[in-house]
Amino acid sequence: KKIKIKVPATVANLVCGFDILGMAIHEPYDEMELKLLDTPEIIIKHEDHFGLPEDPSQNVAGVVLQNIQKHFQLTQGFEVTIRKHIKPGSGLGSSAASAAGAAFGANALLGNSLSDEEMIHFAMFGEELASGVRHADNIAPCIYGGITLVKSSSPIDIIPLSTPDLFVVAVHPQVEVKTSDARQILKKNVLLKDAVEQWGNIAGLVVGILKNDIPLIGRSLNDVIIEPIRSILIPKFDEVKMKSLEAGALGGGISGSGPSIFMLAEKKETAEHIARLMKSVYDEIEIESFVYVSKIN
Ligand code: HSE
Repeated sequence: KKIKIKVPATVANLVCGFDILGMAIHEPYDEMELKLLDTPEIIIKHEDHFGLPEDPSQNVAGVVLQNIQKHFQLTQGFEVTIRKHIKPGSGLGSSAASAAGAAFGANALLGNSLSDEEMIHFAMFGEELASGVRHADNIAPCIYGGITLVKSSSPIDIIPLSTPDLFVVAVHPQVEVKTSDARQILKKNVLLKDAVEQWGNIAGLVVGILKNDIPLIGRSLNDVIIEPIRSILIPKFDEVKMKSLEAGALGGGISGSGPSIFMLAEKKETAEHIARLMKSVYDEIEIESFVYVSKIN
């Protein structure tokens, strides 16, 4: 028995919704093939050159499968072949894709006996291995599609939102930002006045998404808590953001924990223009970058 799946990249946080909001996008995506084995071993194969570990206990997909195997007391194992197009460490949900793809694929091979919440529960073991934190803001949209709200990750309570018809532009500059470092530098306390502004933005964004109120989405994409601290890790962040907004982006910011930056736009031409601007900012300082123009998936 085997299954082939495409697993989408995801943009976590959506600027103001740190650890609670996320969206799946069409491009890039990973390809995964999972096979059920008669013997209990878990075999991980990569058809790419990122040098990710293949020892199942050190591999994001591997730990998810180990936990599923343990949960069902399976005598069978899995062979997983991963063709990664979502670059590890990009901030575009590469580890979440492996984790969610493993949970989704295994569930399909085992007769779909897991609920969406259970798939998320198992996939979070992969995120924990990758970043040290059981966060679901990339995994949830990866499994549900579209935009999701993680109302709570323990107990798991996911609210799928609607999918506005918008273009997503992302630039991935080739600098390293580890999620664990990008979390460590955050302040543990938040000023009440900042919290009030932030929850106004989150509420505005969620309402904007549900009502398809595009201007409301645009003016809610502000982050007064995380972005001012994390953006210092990303070269030219302010310039990329300013040029994108001047070129007609609705809004945007850091994708996940970075270093990718994403912007939303209503029109394809605007999105493509922003992509060119983003690339030229990094070309100027001789930092290689990859740009993606996509839609919410
Ligand atoms: N919400 C997480 C963070 C996403 O911003 O740290 C990391 O992939």
